[in-house]
Amino acid sequence: MDVYRDSTWILEDLVKQRDNNKLVSGSLKNIIISKHKQFKLNNKNLKNVFACTIETYKHLDVIDFLYDNLENLDDLLLKLEKDKSKKPNKFTLYLMINDLLFSKTKRVQLPNNHYLKKFINQLVKPLNKNWLKFQKINKISSIDEYLLKQNGENKPIDQPPVRWFRLNLAKLVTQDKIDYIRNEIINNFKHKVDSWKTVAENLDCIYEDEYIPNLFAVSMNFKISKSKWYKLGQVIIQDRGSCFPLEILDIQPTDYIMDCCAAPGNKTSLLGGYIYVKNRLENTEEILEVEDEDITRVIAFEKNDKRSDVLNSMMKNAGFETRKYNPDLTVAEQTEKFFEENSMKIDIYHGDFSTLCNNDRNKEIYNSKFFKFNKAILDPSCSGSGIYGRASIDNLNKADLEKYTAKEEERLAKLSSFQTSLVSHAMKLPNLKKLTYSTCSVNVIENEQVVIDLLLKHSDWEVIPRSESIPYWKRRGLSSAFDEYISDDKKESLLKGISLQEIENIKEACIRLNKEEDGGIGFFVCGFQRKNNSKKNKK
Ligand SMILES: C[S@@+](CC[C@H](N)C(=O)[O-])C[C@H]1O[C@@H](n2cnc3c(N)ncnc32)[C@H](O)[C@@H]1O
Repeated sequence: MDVYRDSTWILEDLVKQRDNNKLVSGSLKNIIISKHKQFKLNNKNLKNVFACTIETYKHLDVIDFLYDNLENLDDLLLKLEKDKSKKPNKFTLYLMINDLLFSKTKRVQLPNNHYLKKFINQLVKPLNKNWLKFQKINKISSIDEYLLKQNGENKPIDQPPVRWFRLNLAKLVTQDKIDYIRNEIINNFKHKVDSWKTVAENLDCIYEDEYIPNLFAVSMNFKISKSKWYKLGQVIIQDRGSCFPLEILDIQPTDYIMDCCAAPGNKTSLLGGYIYVKNRLENTEEILEVEDEDITRVIAFEKNDKRSDVLNSMMKNAGFETRKYNPDLTVAEQTEKFFEENSMKIDIYHGDFSTLCNNDRNKEIYNSKFFKFNKAILDPSCSGSGIYGRASIDNLNKADLEKYTAKEEERLAKLSSFQTSLVSHAMKLPNLKKLTYSTCSVNVIENEQVVIDLLLKHSDWEVIPRSESIPYWKRRGLSSAFDEYISDDKKESLLKGISLQEIENIKEACIRLNKEEDGGIGFFVCGFQRKNNSKKNKK
């Protein structure tokens, strides 16, 4: 009964939000996990609660029909109340109806002698009758057919068209091992194809990305998480867009890089692999300066307590050695942990990146610990409007972007100003020369708008030009995002200090990946460099 009880609370809450026409953000999975925590529910049931709630929520309008058309329901409920002095919650019944009609086992998860199981058993016939009626009205023969029709797509809802995964260099280390595993993976498939679209429909095919090294796409039906490569940590599931920022940063063996908003750490571990493995293999001639044991080449900030723990364990699982620091303490105050010689070191700062170097005390910390850092990744919290889960919820909510309420607009404006302030803070750090700003949002206000606001605020920074920002990627910044800054006759820039040509360059420097169309989540990234860093001073 625990599963139904826990799922009822979450389902009731989700429906309440839907009925208030409130747009639910984030993936359904994440929402359920957070509600599970909010209601302090039993963790043992999480997987089951997730399955139960998500399936029932997906089928809500069907179950509404089945339930509302139960002729004798009120009488049966009255009788139950009289006999047992109990009235079941409508959503508990919904969850049981879903299990009864649409689950694999077609069974209610209760013992046979449970009063609710006995109750629902009385409804089996009328429910089946209503389901047949529903199928007839909607001209469908199964629940999946109904969902596909609703979504207008020829694939199950709520998942990307292909699965992207990359080699985890930290677990491979030598060129021989990298080549061996790469070939082993490719040879596991009958065909290596030259478009990710081909793999979507075909389990026999693998695509090796043309933009990101060691990144592959396979059919969603290929269970990469069951493979030995995944189990050994040799591959990591990571969307294509999420790998783009590191390509733009052009990581060199001499770089010190900070990931300012790091958890769960997909970009951090990719970064670590570039710094500690890829670069060193590719630059055998380069004489590396003697490494300072106290200053690692990769540092990751994470403000949230729990997420910083997740980040720490993800990095360890990925093959790195980590130290976790408290940013409110000076270096002298930290309990020092020494790394093994030649280990792949990542320092994790559980703290707010925006406090770095913002007062005398923090300046001292910066000067003793962070002065070498010359590049940064900024991937701050965003609306997540480009991620999966979102669209299906929007569909189910029957709300789309046009229906954003004033509250939603306010939320996006707040996010945009938070994102701008965080990157702005990074731009003020004296030794930073290059950075990337990225989001998994599709909204202009969180993307191109942030880029423009930053350039207006920081005249000493410019965008990294398209020629150095994955130039062959075709989808660049949205023209419509820049229209308001150009005169009606298209001859003049309306932005103070930024010419028309510069506006064009900024648009070209921005990169967008469209959700679905580009094979995965919707993503945005733009690179920045300090002005005197360009051309002659570039490393
Ligand atoms: C979009 S997620 C980062 C995803 C990550 N880059 C990856 O690829 O796995 C944003 C993260 O930034 C953290 N965050 C937000 N504000 C922060 C701040 N001021 N300082 C440090 N971390 C922050 C959030 O807690 C969240 O974990």
